[in-house]
Amino acid sequence: MSDKSNTVQAIQWQDGVLRLLDQRLLPLEERYIDCRNAEDTATAIHEMVVRGAPAIGIAAAFGLVLAVRADPTLFDAAEKVLAESRPTAINLHWALRRMRAIWAASFNADELEAEAVAIFEEDLAQNLKMAEFGAALIAPGSKVLTHCNTGALATGGHGTALGVIRTAWAQGRITQVYNTETRPWLQGARLTAWELMREGIPGKLIADGAVAHLMSTTKIDWVIVGADRIAANGDTANKIGTHMLAVVARHYGAKFMVVAPSGTFDLSMADGSGIPIEERTARELTEFKGSQIAPTGMQAFNPVFDVTPASLIDAVVCERGVVTPPTTAAIGAMLG
Ligand code: MRU
Repeated sequence: MSDKSNTVQAIQWQDGVLRLLDQRLLPLEERYIDCRNAEDTATAIHEMVVRGAPAIGIAAAFGLVLAVRADPTLFDAAEKVLAESRPTAINLHWALRRMRAIWAASFNADELEAEAVAIFEEDLAQNLKMAEFGAALIAPGSKVLTHCNTGALATGGHGTALGVIRTAWAQGRITQVYNTETRPWLQGARLTAWELMREGIPGKLIADGAVAHLMSTTKIDWVIVGADRIAANGDTANKIGTHMLAVVARHYGAKFMVVAPSGTFDLSMADGSGIPIEERTARELTEFKGSQIAPTGMQAFNPVFDVTPASLIDAVVCERGVVTPPTTAAIGAMLG
């Protein structure tokens, strides 16, 4: 399982052990942790050792393999603990459903492991395909803006939105990438910045609050983001702040692209109003790296995803094709 563009391997499956690059420590430290059972894996997902919708799904699939290798009767309990590890990314449930179908048909740990490996390998292949589709939408000489981290760290390799940016840059279509710091967890400042620099892609980090100023003073051609769940009509849940970016992008005439594999679509939801939005601890806002920054006792509201209405999205790029703009009919036709 290697990304032919030779990026970081944040998820490794070696000799029956799941090794995860600890994304809480990047970019200052590159340390892997080993998961030996489903509980370790669920904790790693919940605590964001591994994060990003496709990567969460891949890790959860291997978590089930770890469980049944130890004891085949553990499948149901492992599935439950993994399903509860984070609520918004549908890729987690999509991967668990795929694994359950194999287990129900075979009760065979080798087949279950083969399915987890397939989910991992397919994700990389899908990313490479989406990268070609998405890059084709970007005219040479473009400046783009991205949010959160959607690269090799968040996927099976290459990335979704960042995969499009990598490929478009390699094709000479992009002259400048801006990436938001993505408060409060700083996926942009820590992770996307790290990936851009490793690749030699010209990136500039901006504060989340600098987006409207940037767009009012510099022509941004495309905002390119990933997704954690896309409803049937194209409403898209993604990292908190994505909705605000889309509003500002529409105001200033920047086009807005969502890049996500088919496992990110949740056609059981007609629109985005029912998508569960994860809220994380207030300490992510009231503290920074364990040091208090807000007054003692200050309350905080920390939703970590939001839903961007389909009406603000110009293009949805999937490995099955591209819809411009997203509508229920166009998405249904694309996904078959
Ligand atoms: O909280 P995170 O870091 O898991 O959130 C990640 C995102 O919101 C990404 O944009 C999304 O999962 C797409 S990743 C390819």
